[in-house]
Amino acid sequence: MTMVRHRSAALVLLALAAQRACAARPAATRDHSPATGRVTRTPFGTLPDGQAVELLTLTNAHGIEVRAMTYGGIILSVRAPDRTGRLDDIVLGYDSLEGYVRKSPYFGAIVGRVGNRIARGRFTLDGRSYALATNNGPNHLHGGIVGFDKVVWAAQEFRSDSGVGVVFTHTSPDGDEGYPGTLRARVTYTLTDRDELVVDYHATTDRATPVNLTQHTYWNLAGDGRRDVLGHELMIAADSFTPVDSTLIPTGEIAPVAGTPFDFRELTPIGSRIDRRDDQQIAHGGGYDHNFVLDRRGAAGLAHAARVVEPTTGRTLDVYTTEPGVQFYSGNFLDGSITGKQGHVYQHRFGFALETQHFPDSPNHPNFPTTILHPGEEYRSRTVFAFAVTRP
Ligand code: GLA
Repeated sequence: MTMVRHRSAALVLLALAAQRACAARPAATRDHSPATGRVTRTPFGTLPDGQAVELLTLTNAHGIEVRAMTYGGIILSVRAPDRTGRLDDIVLGYDSLEGYVRKSPYFGAIVGRVGNRIARGRFTLDGRSYALATNNGPNHLHGGIVGFDKVVWAAQEFRSDSGVGVVFTHTSPDGDEGYPGTLRARVTYTLTDRDELVVDYHATTDRATPVNLTQHTYWNLAGDGRRDVLGHELMIAADSFTPVDSTLIPTGEIAPVAGTPFDFRELTPIGSRIDRRDDQQIAHGGGYDHNFVLDRRGAAGLAHAARVVEPTTGRTLDVYTTEPGVQFYSGNFLDGSITGKQGHVYQHRFGFALETQHFPDSPNHPNFPTTILHPGEEYRSRTVFAFAVTRP
């Protein structure tokens, strides 16, 4: 293979890894021509403490554009074509930095050190008890009070055979939000000419610590966050999910989806069962806010986790991941109190998130896949968001 341009051996490895991942995609979607996209870097504002924030704009050969900033590694916008070729922004967020700093329900952000909840912010590791910041009722959510969504990441843009992108790096100090060890995290966004946004996560630590990184983009494939997502059709490749208590902490059970509103094994409108308040799990979540246990069919590596089809525009989103789970969140906490991009008011369920992840509260559930990273080990995880259109 020929490298068009590269900045370091590490990025060559990333490009190689991205190509290997592409090999896991169906043959019809493979394309070996060199990336023709662009990446630009511009100032985006200043935080109240004086830190400068920059904006990275990635554009691929088909005009798909992803804008991400160094604050929280936040994806601000994704412009993708509908079936007539019209480009619209398919994620929720704000026009300016100020909105994200003032109040954001994790719009577009990198979430860590541990995404999702840890019960009462407590866990035991190697015989020691840890108390994390609690920021969601009694529980710890999405890394705590100042999680990875609220720090400024260092950024390096790149262009390679696999596409154009940005490598974000952040060092979380020992004791950050109560977590043990210094964690060095790296998150890479690559926009390919196969119309995929590839998210690669990497981390190392100097003491054992839980790690569970994810991406919290709110999608609305109809475009511009103008209406609810209840008509979007969703497939999740999961035979089971992890039921929760009233504070959204898993009970520890792995329950079958068959016969419940959680059965998304076939494409089903998000809204068709979302208000079944007689279902205790729907009641606890106020809709969907649950971790699905992905069917890997014994295969390691990337697996097809979810597909979303927006029937009016024909836009589709396919999600592939190396993770064992995905949190499907149906935007239940959106209530019209946020005015987002271009003055659009985000009402109830105007966006949804598919947060690929290890299961919530894993440090307290020995039967869940472990989230503990030890010194000398490497945390690696990949999620691919693939954009396309379908004809009626
Ligand atoms: C995750 C959580 C939800 C909510 C959203 C952001 O999806 O599981 O309960 O916190 O993030 O509001």
